[in-house]
Amino acid sequence: MTTVLVLNGPNLGRLGRREPDVYGAETYDDLVALCQKTGQELGLSVEVRQTDAEGELIGWLHEAADGRVPVVLNPAAFTHYSYAVRDAVAQRTAPLIEVHISNPAAREEFRHVSVVSALASGTIAGFGLRSYVLALHALAEMADPAARG
Ligand code: DQA
Repeated sequence: MTTVLVLNGPNLGRLGRREPDVYGAETYDDLVALCQKTGQELGLSVEVRQTDAEGELIGWLHEAADGRVPVVLNPAAFTHYSYAVRDAVAQRTAPLIEVHISNPAAREEFRHVSVVSALASGTIAGFGLRSYVLALHALAEMADPAARG
């Protein structure tokens, strides 16, 4: 069974309490449950993590690179300025999909830049927590193109 890491950056542990008008009412625990349910449906073993610390996120990206593990990554605010996260993404050895709950392109100007996108396999943004579901479907198809519907 393919293992997938779903990695979340700063403030995403506060989903449900954090700007619900932007990020919705569902909590981080709801996100974990949704990713694991989707993984079961797709035959993926999904592990979901969240950190507010840049170094920890980079360490997880190194772990994924060393293990050839596909990643769904929501770098949160690091998206817009962290060259360190970008350089860690550049080391990837398996597909990596950048996701966002909101649509950064439709928000403040500083969110229009992603320093990560050019290194990702693709980006899915603006679909609420469904962005993660769509990303997991994309990874499942990339792992097994024959499974494409
Ligand atoms: C986010 C968008 C970022 O601009 C923001 O800093 C976040 C969350 C999203 O999922 O919509 O923390 O990545």
